[in-house]
Amino acid sequence: MKRLQDKVAVVTGGGSGIGRAIGLEFAREGAHVVVISNVGQETEDVAQEVRSLGRKGIGIVADVTDAERVKSIADEVNRKFGRTDILVTSAGVMGERSLIFKTSEEGWRRTIEINLNAGFYCIKAFLPKMMEQKSGRVIMISSVSGKLPAGRNADYAASKHGLIGLTKCLAIEMCLLGLPGITANAICPGHTDTPMISAITEHLRPRTGDTAEKFKEERIASTCPQKRLLDPAEIAYMAVYLASDEARGVTGQAMNVDGGLVLF
Ligand SMILES: NC(=O)c1ccc[n+]([C@@H]2O[C@H](COP(=O)([O-])OP(=O)(O)OC[C@H]3O[C@@H](n4cnc5c(N)ncnc54)[C@H](O)[C@@H]3O)[C@@H](O)[C@H]2O)c1
Repeated sequence: MKRLQDKVAVVTGGGSGIGRAIGLEFAREGAHVVVISNVGQETEDVAQEVRSLGRKGIGIVADVTDAERVKSIADEVNRKFGRTDILVTSAGVMGERSLIFKTSEEGWRRTIEINLNAGFYCIKAFLPKMMEQKSGRVIMISSVSGKLPAGRNADYAASKHGLIGLTKCLAIEMCLLGLPGITANAICPGHTDTPMISAITEHLRPRTGDTAEKFKEERIASTCPQKRLLDPAEIAYMAVYLASDEARGVTGQAMNVDGGLVLF
């Protein structure tokens, strides 16, 4: 029996990078996967990959900052499958990467809206069914930036710190309501080789004159104690564990998968 046999999983940001890796690893572990992202082709491609692994794969193109739309997707998923077992919120953007006093109000609001508020919208939409079932797993993709300060990163870091706070509050609320079968945890990836890291590279590389490969290796990977970028699959293995029955006693945690970047 696979670890997530016949579980119904929803993965926002599932069309790319970490979300894609999680959706595919869930499918390999036996789950049916609903992939949500705002990029049409990627969303359908990953849903197709899930189907080719022999599981039900549904791609839904949506903006997760549209709370009404997220609610209607939750209703659709629950109508179709009769349940939602796992919610992963991986949809995210890197933020404006400027000093606080130079960050635009619009850029700040956009980062917080996508990275933090959308997590709240997703919880509101998908939690009622889990509460009815008395079981569920909420996994929020935060970041090492949810734990560590850094310059030119305040909007992103604030959103990721906020996600950890939201996760911990959800975990304690489920316990207080007598629903220990619902757990909430965050994963804090370190630098992971995804299109987001490529975008950061393209944003900062021109200042250095480095090639993309050199920049990734010497300026990003070198900040990791293990001197490497993580593979998105490494984040997915942690998500599988947190989604599994084996992790039923793990709640309210923010798990680093970071090559040793956060050593406390
Ligand atoms: N790559 C890293 O080094 C790293 C490190 C720590 C945390 N993270 C976090 O991991 C998550 C995934 O990042 P990634 O590296 O896989 O990046 P990515 O750019 O490959 O994937 C992000 C996904 O989010 C989707 N998305 C963005 N805005 C959306 C919106 N408004 N509505 C719906 N979908 C939306 C994109 O379409 C894409 O599918 C993000 O939350 C990111 O902050 C990434």
